[in-house]
Amino acid sequence: MSTRYRPPVEARVYVPAPGEASDVELLPAGDVTEGVVRVGGTVRRPHQPQSLAVAEYLDWLEDARFDGSPRYLGRDAQGRDVLTFMAGGCAGPVPEPWVQSEDLLASVARLVRRLHAASAGYVPREHPFPERAPLPQAGALPGPGKLVCHLDVTPQNVVVRDGAAVGLIDFDLAGPATALRDSYNAAMHWAPLRDPADAWPGWEGVDPCRRLRIFADAYGWDDEERRRIPGFGIEAAGVSYERMRHNAEVLGGGWARMWADGVGGLILRRRDWLEANAGRLVRALTG
Ligand SMILES: Nc1ncnc2c1ncn2[C@@H]1O[C@H](COP(=O)(O)OP(=O)(O)O)[C@@H](O)[C@H]1O
Ligand SMILES: [Mg+2]
Repeated sequence: MSTRYRPPVEARVYVPAPGEASDVELLPAGDVTEGVVRVGGTVRRPHQPQSLAVAEYLDWLEDARFDGSPRYLGRDAQGRDVLTFMAGGCAGPVPEPWVQSEDLLASVARLVRRLHAASAGYVPREHPFPERAPLPQAGALPGPGKLVCHLDVTPQNVVVRDGAAVGLIDFDLAGPATALRDSYNAAMHWAPLRDPADAWPGWEGVDPCRRLRIFADAYGWDDEERRRIPGFGIEAAGVSYERMRHNAEVLGGGWARMWADGVGGLILRRRDWLEANAGRLVRALTG
């Protein structure tokens, strides 16, 4: 059990301790959320429709003694969500060469595995995750085989210290899914699985098959999961294309910006690349 007194998430108010550092530092802009800042040892984020569902999940992870996620501290006088700042570094929008470290990649996979172990048994009660449309593949309702997990383990959302992944941040897309969906998504971002034409600058020589195998071994995909990966990825790309298009149209903001920047084309090229390289990927994963 936690030693800190915690009112229910909807009633939790963040009151800074006397003398607490209050210098404001802009954090590197992520893709979507505007106005994320660091204030002393905390991060302030705009309150969002999923905030209380995320807060309840972060409480669960805290009680499960998972040390790889921020703590939800409440809302500040401006109504913003307050989370603990996790010391370390995160990749920028174009992941830097240090992100290519294979030890780091393996540590990301192990951290995601630990998150899944800590999440087992969690069922949102007071604050369900909002439905995400369109959802041919998974609803926001928990059910058999469902696991609440992160679902956006990009290089920008992993805190790295001394070359190893120590924290997952930005739980905005968290919700009930499956362990395979979350781990595939993390591997897809970190290999990364994309058409070579879309390689980040400086990543042209990186072998995604080799990296996918490192992730698979460190996370612990079984043989059946390894064989399912290409088909799973192809299906996930279709879902992700539809969701991005929907979010760009309905939510606008950062989603519309990403769509205008061509993320739709990138996802379709990924799907084609997965189709063309399915055999190679399975051989790398099982050989
Ligand atoms: N709790 C935190 N600890 C450390 N760094 C953080 C934390 N929250 C955010 N950051 C930094 O701010 C950046 C943007 O925040 P994030 O919550 O990921 O917003 P977005 O939804 O825009 O991606 C992150 O990539 C990271 O560099
Ligand atoms: Mg982010």
